Amino acid sequence: MFIPSYPPPEPRHYAAFVESMPSLEGRTIAITGCTSGTGLVMARTCGREGARIVMLNRPSQRAQRALEELKGEGIDAALVACDLQRFASVHEAAELLAQRYPEGLDVLCNNAGVMGLPDRATGDGYDVQMQTNHLSHFLLTALVWPLLAAAAAAHGEARVVNHSSGARRGAPLSADYLAAKGGELGGDGFPGFGKWRRYQQSKLANLLFTYALHDHIAAERPGSGVKSLCAHPGPTNSGLQAKTSDAGGTRVLDQLILWRTLRVAHAVEDGALGLLRAACDPEVESGAFYGPEGRGQPGPAMLLPAERDAEGERLLWDASLAATGLSAFFEAGEQLCRAVVDSQRATDKVAQL
Ligand SMILES: NC(=O)c1ccc[n+]([C@@H]2O[C@H](COP(=O)([O-])OP(=O)(O)OC[C@H]3O[C@@H](n4cnc5c(N)ncnc54)[C@H](OP(=O)(O)O)[C@@H]3O)[C@@H](O)[C@H]2O)c1
Repeated sequence: MFIPSYPPPEPRHYAAFVESMPSLEGRTIAITGCTSGTGLVMARTCGREGARIVMLNRPSQRAQRALEELKGEGIDAALVACDLQRFASVHEAAELLAQRYPEGLDVLCNNAGVMGLPDRATGDGYDVQMQTNHLSHFLLTALVWPLLAAAAAAHGEARVVNHSSGARRGAPLSADYLAAKGGELGGDGFPGFGKWRRYQQSKLANLLFTYALHDHIAAERPGSGVKSLCAHPGPTNSGLQAKTSDAGGTRVLDQLILWRTLRVAHAVEDGALGLLRAACDPEVESGAFYGPEGRGQPGPAMLLPAERDAEGERLLWDASLAATGLSAFFEAGEQLCRAVVDSQRATDKVAQL
């Protein structure tokens, strides 16, 4: 690793935010990518306020350590294996969630992310950044839709919270990045910009998905009570930058981008405030977007202006359905949940014989 290691900054806004949080007793919150960084802060913070935490992580020692850390604090936490680089793993995770949490999920936080990785295809054929950061989250959200609707029916509302980035700004969304063209999307050669364009497209996809989901809920499942929200953390000293460097981000341009981020980055606790606000603030409305104000300026979670792009949202929705093999978004999860209920009924019947 070439980037200078900046000591983690002190949190400046986190404590005040936590003071303002409502009790989360009786709520179930599922979070992707909570082995470290903003996801782990969110899991810990919501768990301390009484929420039941479902940790959607790919299997690893890090995942196990994070689970033990939360349990060690007395938090009601469980691990559900979910590797966002594999659609099959997302399907398995959604099935487990339907079996274990039929009463519903109050929040699905699509937080996990990778940044600036080499031009590589996943086993499913998609760009590793786009599949991890967006496509698998799109699939997961569709498959657990009935669980969100169930929690909303029980508690008045439920929320999907996506995690974007200041890096979303740049080129409009291109269908190429959502197609099965992994490994053919700009390469890693001079000047090394391809990996950053791929990251930009995946983080733009997070915001466009939020707005597209908001619109599709209003049109196809009005009155469901499920809100679609987005946050971005601002430059945050989370360890994400070192992972980019370790994955081959050693060119001058890579190092410059990572150095510039870390130089102004705030503490990971402050980086989680957008997510926490979108997930927990009682006042939020569907379609809202939270993050630090200004370009690259660390600070508290502010409500940001909407950045709607109707064409990009349509492109994103259709291309994401095609990539994940779904013929219809809401129906996919409804079918899955019916199948889980039917199979449980059949098992119960056999047990009674
Ligand atoms: N840090 C920043 O400056 C910054 C700025 C803008 C946006 N963001 C966004 O913030 C989010 C959280 O990042 P962070 O800064 O907190 O970084 P982080 O500490 O590296 O956290 C990333 C999380 O994503 C998980 N993850 C990666 N690949 C996965 C996969 N295939 N399946 C399941 N989980 C996977 C990681 O788990 P493993 O331990 O298994 O790898 C980890 O828990 C990301 O979406 C990122 O794009 C960060």
